[in-house]
Amino acid sequence: MSEIKIIKEAKAMQEISEFLRLSGKKIGFVPTMGYLHSGHISLIKKAKEECDIVIVSIYVNPTQFLKDEDFETYPRDFDADYLSCKNENVDYIFNPDNIEMYKRNHMTNIMISNISNKLEGEIRPGHFIGVATVVLKLFNITKPHVSYFGQKDAQQCIVIKRLVEDLNVDIKIETCETIREDNGLAKSSRNVYLSENEKNNAAALFKSLSIGKSLVLQGINDPDSVILEMSKIIKEEIPNAEIQYISVTDNELLNNIDELNNYKGEVLISLAVKTEKTRLIDNVLFSKN
Ligand code: PAJ
Repeated sequence: MSEIKIIKEAKAMQEISEFLRLSGKKIGFVPTMGYLHSGHISLIKKAKEECDIVIVSIYVNPTQFLKDEDFETYPRDFDADYLSCKNENVDYIFNPDNIEMYKRNHMTNIMISNISNKLEGEIRPGHFIGVATVVLKLFNITKPHVSYFGQKDAQQCIVIKRLVEDLNVDIKIETCETIREDNGLAKSSRNVYLSENEKNNAAALFKSLSIGKSLVLQGINDPDSVILEMSKIIKEEIPNAEIQYISVTDNELLNNIDELNNYKGEVLISLAVKTEKTRLIDNVLFSKN
């Protein structure tokens, strides 16, 4: 088994990836902000299964955080991440610093209109400009054939797929299922901010999503009544929960579905809830005939 290589410079990573491509290797890429948990690991495992070489990026990208958000305090533990990657036989970790990523005078930004301004984008204006720009940069640096994203961040998956399609980026995007705690809480690096009690209560999010899904599948026509039922569960089970949104949309343009009975296709129920200190997002995606 060869050692993982840690690459800090974009140019060096590009040269390695170019060489690997010319040698006929299939490159899988998993972009992350580190503090790896079993959600991230599931993407890495999928990449290992399907590709010859796996590159994981570990980079807390400042441009996708709003001014009052947790960029400074976002959890970081490179040594633990290194060991997790080693366990999974990752080949390369790309771990640049901010100067390497945004040299002086960085001016180019990717704005995916419409879908970037809904849901997460409405609450976190500019967030997806930061995400799309850094992801495109990481694609250009690591030159993968396939890149892996988690369904946990449903809107991020939609934005990245749109970016790839609109700009003819020659990379296959794969979406992997959300990995959860035993109580249903979606794994997230930010769960470290939650107390044990908050973690237990946060099970209400997945519970409400699951009930929302079953109401839709039972034939309820009006999404507002689904949303109302879901809000009740969250308010009952999470003291002081601030529900930022619960939405029932399609999974491409994120348009609200007004009449469920007339709708056929993928339904995305997504939500964002603020508990005492932490903002949590989650979703369920399913087909409706
Ligand atoms: P991060 O939050 O570290 O997540 C990295 C990848 O892991 C994303 O594709 C995310 O959807 C996936 N992921 C997180 N939690 C998951 C879970 N419980 N189950 C399955 N997958 C999960 O998302 C980002 O970083 C950044 O925005 C990034 C794309 C790296 C750009 O900076």
